[in-house]
Amino acid sequence: MKHLLNITDLTVDEIKLVLELSHRDPASLGRPLAGSDGTPKGAALIFEKPSNRTRHSMEIAVVQLGGHPIYTRGEEVGFDSREPVEDIARIMSGYHGLIAARVFKHDVVKRLAEASSIPVVNMLSDESHPLQGLADALTMVQEFGSLDGKTVAYVGDYNNVARSLGEVCVMLGAHYRLACPSGYEATDAELSRIAALGNGSINQSNDPKLAVVGAHAVHTDTWVSMGQEAEKTERLQIFGSYAVTTDLMSKADAKAIFMHCLPAYRGYEVAADVIDGSASRVIQQGHNRLHASRGVLAYLLGVTK
Ligand code: CP
Ligand code: NVA
Repeated sequence: MKHLLNITDLTVDEIKLVLELSHRDPASLGRPLAGSDGTPKGAALIFEKPSNRTRHSMEIAVVQLGGHPIYTRGEEVGFDSREPVEDIARIMSGYHGLIAARVFKHDVVKRLAEASSIPVVNMLSDESHPLQGLADALTMVQEFGSLDGKTVAYVGDYNNVARSLGEVCVMLGAHYRLACPSGYEATDAELSRIAALGNGSINQSNDPKLAVVGAHAVHTDTWVSMGQEAEKTERLQIFGSYAVTTDLMSKADAKAIFMHCLPAYRGYEVAADVIDGSASRVIQQGHNRLHASRGVLAYLLGVTK
């Protein structure tokens, strides 16, 4: 049984296959979420946090693969409050072809996967956002042809998005440069773990200019992730000098692109003239959430060519 809890649940070859499947016409993938009589199988999409891109792209991807999405708010199933995570996984395994969840605690998606007899997909946890990492890779591969040898900068909070992006970049041969404020960085153990994942490299500093100089892609994300709202005032102060501005972008490669998983907060992590300017690929990146989700779901459901 294959699950997608982190990018590292896939090998380098599997990521490349998923990106290839993501580029393909949906009709060429067959209907792996349809039963043998053509009846759609269910896909449980459970959200403990809000979503625009992930909900819509996953619902459409499920339909394109022949299935029937069922959206559920976290409080309706009540992980460990209404009933144990394991009971939810075992019951849903009898209704559906797939379970996907957006959770506060990564451990919940791990426990879902352990108890489930169908694929489980992490739609964002405190640890990682693998569907975003795949869409980010797809967008950069469309732009550059390949990530091999490219330099990818990430400026801001070392969070779920930064972790999945780093994993996929290093696995696909890119040089990943982080610039995060002190106290919001990757640990040395984390840097070593990611460095060992593939042919790319990873390094970190507290200086956005150092990360961005000569980079082919510059990424950022919100300074206040879902669940961190109580830290907002403190975080906005600490991250103030980590904004991606036109001045910072001018240090990057002359053809550098700007990327952000969205939702974005203009005037905070990114200046409006960067995210709304010609270097920005955020809309293509958001649209690629659909293509990457369809590609990886097809793969988890057994499509390999
Ligand atoms: N990027 C992303 O996951 O967006 P949503 O929170 O809107 O799903
Ligand atoms: N890091 C952000 C990503 C939102 C898509 C969060 O977890 O809220």
